[in-house]
Amino acid sequence: MGCLIIVGTQWGDEGKGKVVDLLTESADAVVRYQGGNNAGHTVMFGNKTYILHMIPSGILRETTSILANGVVIDLSELVKEINDLKKMGIDVDKYIRISDRAHLVMPWHKEIDQLREKKRGKSKIGTTGRGIGPAYEDKAGREGIRFGDLLDHEKLRTRLIELVKEKNIFFKNNFDTFQKLFSAEDIFYEYVEYIKKLESCIIDTPSLINKLIEEGKNILFEGAQGTFLDMDHGTYPFVTSSNTLSGNACIGSGIGPTSIKSVLGIVKAYTTRVGNGPFPTELLDNDGKILQSEGNEYGATTGRPRRCGWFDALLVRQAVRLNGINSIALTKLDVLDGFETLKIAIAYRLPNGEEYDNLPRSLENVKPVYLEMPGWKCPTAGAVKYDQLPDEMLAYIDKICELVGAKVSIISTGPKREETIVLNPDQF
Ligand code: IMP
Repeated sequence: MGCLIIVGTQWGDEGKGKVVDLLTESADAVVRYQGGNNAGHTVMFGNKTYILHMIPSGILRETTSILANGVVIDLSELVKEINDLKKMGIDVDKYIRISDRAHLVMPWHKEIDQLREKKRGKSKIGTTGRGIGPAYEDKAGREGIRFGDLLDHEKLRTRLIELVKEKNIFFKNNFDTFQKLFSAEDIFYEYVEYIKKLESCIIDTPSLINKLIEEGKNILFEGAQGTFLDMDHGTYPFVTSSNTLSGNACIGSGIGPTSIKSVLGIVKAYTTRVGNGPFPTELLDNDGKILQSEGNEYGATTGRPRRCGWFDALLVRQAVRLNGINSIALTKLDVLDGFETLKIAIAYRLPNGEEYDNLPRSLENVKPVYLEMPGWKCPTAGAVKYDQLPDEMLAYIDKICELVGAKVSIISTGPKREETIVLNPDQF
C-alpha cells in the first residue's frame, strides 16, 4: 500500500468513511489533511454505527490517527468526539496525534459563518455552519491560532485578549443582530482545561509521518468532502474553503508528492449534493425521492436531506484527472436495485444549444444529455462475490469505468465492512 490517498469524486458523501475503515486493516496510520468537523464519516460494523467528524476513521481500528497541519479543529467539538469514542472503549489518547500547526476553529468563526449565511438570504451557500470558511480565512490572513500556541499559556492569553478585542469590534460593526460579546478570559480558561488532557498528543506531525514513510509503513490519507467542493476546482462559490483534491494531501500533511503511491477515488453509483449550487443531473421527481430514501441520503453532520440525481460521468471523469486517480471504489450500487432504467450523463447541452462533453466553467443552466441503461431489478445488497452480481449491474459498472477512464478496484454492496468485493488490490 505505501502512501494511499482516498478522495471523494463528487460532492462528498460518497462513502469514504467505510472504505477508509476497510483499508485501515492494512494501514499503520491514517491521516486527515484538510477540512474540519464539516465532514461526517459514517462507519458501520457489528451492530454499531459510528459517525466521525474530525478524527480519522482509522481510530475505530485502534490505528495511529493523525490530524495533520491542513485541518481546522474546533477544540470543544474534538473533545466531545474523543469522549464519545472513549465511552465506546477506544483508547483514543494512545492513537490520536494532532499537528502543532493545525489551526483552531474559534467561537467567532462559527458565529460569522452562521450570521453571514443569514445575511446572504436566497444566495446562501448552505454551509454546515461549523465555522470552516472563516477559520481558513483567518489562517490565510495570518490571524489564526494554531494548536502549538495552546501550549504556552501566557502567550495564548495575550493573543486571545488582542483577538477578542478585534473580533468584538468586527461583530459590532458588521452584525447588528449579534448582541453578545466574546470574553478572552472565558475562552482562555475553557481551552486551558481542554488542553491539559490533550497536551501529549500535540506534536510535529510532518516529522512523524515522514518517519513512518522512511520505515516503509502503510499510510492512508483520508480526504474529506469531495472534488467538486474544492476551492479551486469545484463549483465556486458553492464550495468548501479548503482544497479537497489529492494534491492537497501533501501540503496538508507535510510530505512530498513523490511519496504518494496511489490515489483511490470513491464514486457513488449516482450523485448527491448537500447545500446549494448547481447540480445538472438532480432529480426533483419521484426517482430522486427513491434515491434519497433507499440511499438514506441525509447529511451525517447536519441531518439535512441530500439532493439526489443520476450518475454524472463528466464530473467523475474530471475528478479522475484532477486527482490522478489510479482506480475507483464504487459505492451504493444496491440503492439502484429497484430501477427499470438507469441514466448516465455523458454530455451537457449549454444554454446556447451547443452540446459539450467536457466540464464547462459553470454548471449553471446546463442540461444533461443521458445514456440509458437497463436496471437489474433484483436485490444485490450484501453481495460478497463478483459472480453474484447481475449482468445488467456488471454492464453499468463497465460503462462507468469506460466513461470515467479508471478501473474499479472495490465494489461496496452495503454499509457494513463485510459487504464489499475487492477486485484489484494491486491498484492501491
Ligand atoms: P462548509 O464546508 O461548511 O463551509 O460548507 C460549504 C459547502 O460544502 C456546503 O454546500 C456544505 O453542505 C458542503 N459540505 C461541507 N462538508 C461536507 C461534507 O462532508 N459532505 C458533503 N458536503 C459538505
